[in-house]
Amino acid sequence: MEYYNKDRIAAKPAEERITLGIESSCDETAAAILRGGRELLADVISTQVPIHRKYGGVVPEIASRNHILNVLPVVDEALKQADMKLSDIDQIAVTYGPGLVGALLVGVAAAKSLAYALEIPLIGVNHLEGHIFANFLSAPDLKPPFVALVASGGHTALVHVADYDSFRLLGQTRDDAAGEAFDKVARVMGLPYPGGPEIDRLAKEGDLHAIDFPKALAKGGYEFSFSGLKSAVLNYLNSQKLKNIPVNNADVAASFQQTVIAILVDKSLSALRETGLDTLVLAGGVAANSALEAELRQATGAAGYKFFFPSRRMCTDNAAMIACRGYYQSLSRDYEYTPLTLNAVPGLSLSDR
Ligand code: KG4
Ligand code: ZN
Repeated sequence: MEYYNKDRIAAKPAEERITLGIESSCDETAAAILRGGRELLADVISTQVPIHRKYGGVVPEIASRNHILNVLPVVDEALKQADMKLSDIDQIAVTYGPGLVGALLVGVAAAKSLAYALEIPLIGVNHLEGHIFANFLSAPDLKPPFVALVASGGHTALVHVADYDSFRLLGQTRDDAAGEAFDKVARVMGLPYPGGPEIDRLAKEGDLHAIDFPKALAKGGYEFSFSGLKSAVLNYLNSQKLKNIPVNNADVAASFQQTVIAILVDKSLSALRETGLDTLVLAGGVAANSALEAELRQATGAAGYKFFFPSRRMCTDNAAMIACRGYYQSLSRDYEYTPLTLNAVPGLSLSDR
């Protein structure tokens, strides 16, 4: 016996199916409603950034508690935006990893309860796949195959997206993620959390070539390493301090950011050349970086490749991308909906599929 009404979902044409997406992997509690795969009817994000800012980063326990307070209100708000009732929802997609375990569990528990009560199917979604799928919402004409550069707070990876349900991981970071490096460097420079947007802003006033920071694994295929770069920035700041030399924060931000961008651009172009694909898609919170977007646009354009990146709102964590990923997952051949035993998987990775 299934927990959901099989006849009801089977009777609804795919392009009319209403998917409720729920996201709670880090410090955003979000709900979104999608018709078919690309028509966004509601998109609600409740951010906890101001709460965590005073601690300089996300405090997992505080994040979980706030997700508990926010998860049903964001679903209610999404229903209101879409002018719908819970009974109009056909299926529920929820992030089950990667992320903070306590935070993930709140979204997963809410989604399972709603699926059970409404007798509708559940779709467990990998958050990183969700980031890639955010591009389908920003670019209605985008279709696989393409190379995706995923750069978020927790992950940095290059993925060959052969089809909506066929991925191959080309390479990923061995240590810190690109966003993590932005956040850590910003923190030692005394900038507020999250550091990415702060460095982005400060870098505009600095000299990209002021300081020569190392590019790790420049020849290392599709693997990335950002922890050495982070240490190099810390060492630079400390040595200037010991020598009583004033530091130009804008130059440090610009030089650091340029180093990260050079690595990301270089490896993305190698991936395009070697896979023979003609399209690059940018995904994850770091995709919101204005200089990264400009350089990737320039480099892909000059080499004759197509380039897509999500709208600013779709770059960072949201539930629309989770609903979109869930929808395409449910369309794939032989797809079996997720059982109600679904658990959070904090260390879930992007793997071949
Ligand atoms: O994808 P995301 O919202 O959350 C994760 O899944 O990790 O990414 C958050 C990361 C943070 O590290 C944040 O500093 C970074 O994205 N970020 C940026 C910018 N906006 C957000 N990094 C560089 N430049 C930005 N403008
Ligand atoms: Zn994310």
